Amino acid sequence: MERIYLDNAATSYPKAPGVGDAVKHFIDAVGDNVNRSGYDSLQADEMVFDTREMLAQLFNFPTPETVIFTLNITYGLNFLLKGILKPGDHVIVSSMEHNAVMRPLIQLEKEGVEFSRADCDETGHLDVNDFRRSIRRNTKMAVLTHASNVSGTILPIEEVGAICAEEEIFFVVDTAQTAGILDLDFQKIQADALAFTGHKGLLAPQGIGGFLISQDMAEEMESLISGGTGSLSEYEEVPPYLPDKFEAGTPNLPGIYGLHRALKYLTDVGLEHIRNKELRLAGYLLEELGNMERVTIAGSKGTENRMSVVSADFAGYDNAQVAYCLDKHHGIRTRCGLHCAPSAHKTLGTFPRGTVRFSPGHFNTETDIERTVSAVRAVLRELENTRR
Ligand code: ALA
Repeated sequence: MERIYLDNAATSYPKAPGVGDAVKHFIDAVGDNVNRSGYDSLQADEMVFDTREMLAQLFNFPTPETVIFTLNITYGLNFLLKGILKPGDHVIVSSMEHNAVMRPLIQLEKEGVEFSRADCDETGHLDVNDFRRSIRRNTKMAVLTHASNVSGTILPIEEVGAICAEEEIFFVVDTAQTAGILDLDFQKIQADALAFTGHKGLLAPQGIGGFLISQDMAEEMESLISGGTGSLSEYEEVPPYLPDKFEAGTPNLPGIYGLHRALKYLTDVGLEHIRNKELRLAGYLLEELGNMERVTIAGSKGTENRMSVVSADFAGYDNAQVAYCLDKHHGIRTRCGLHCAPSAHKTLGTFPRGTVRFSPGHFNTETDIERTVSAVRAVLRELENTRR
């Protein structure tokens, strides 16, 4: 049975052409560490710097040396939240955030950090006036997902960024679902930090992500980790400059080689082409699933202001069983449940049941979606028959 992978919101598959070769090339033919050796390890050094430059270009970010690599976006967000926030500080988030933001905040709350959730409506849309009303005298930071990993709803980061700039609040953007698909302009957003991950829309391997950070925020931020950087080795303190301040330890060099290759592919193909194709597939799914009896789409039913993430609730059925049958009997891979985002599901009215999430990616085809729609119909018939 041919499998159809529709879980690109969790991690993209396949990766950009050549990514596997680039990872293998580093391991088999390069192998050097960076910043540390007396021998000529320039190839890896250059690759790391080049990758920072490509990311800076992708996100219209002026200073490649303040592009920081971490393991993934969860690490990046933990750095940004825990490195800045102190007892007595207040943070604003939307009600559509992922646990990569909510869990660090709940930990910080135990230490005296306060937070407010600006409520989104049942389509996941954030009214910026609600955001503005949440601002307090002690608001230090706002963190917003650029798009929901449950409903695909795009949040108004430019408007929120403008408010944060006016109010002198640090603004952190979570681009887990949008980097590599939507245009992201760090300067236009007026962000102070933007966290990204390699393994989703950037079509790179798992284990490489990071954040872009403004000089102001970087100066105020403490590093969550410390250790060897290959620089200022005569001192036992962490170097104060970037990227070293936040990058102790040997980086994921195979991952960076893979990310470099993926970024080159994205530049060649163009993000506009990528998002148009993905949205066409999502539109097809939305129309077909939306017209099925007892299927409710979480969030908005149209393609406007959304990513290619379609969550469906199969009323009267167990969503987990629908997802199981799609996989086992038809080879269709989705993700069901709460998608590590209980707050988003509460907002959308799908908590605690969760949904079956279909997230077509760059390499899916219309035939994949046609087969998926037929498979959903077949599964609903199967489940109906087992009841009789
Ligand atoms: N956050 C990822 C998802 O939505 C893992 O599935």
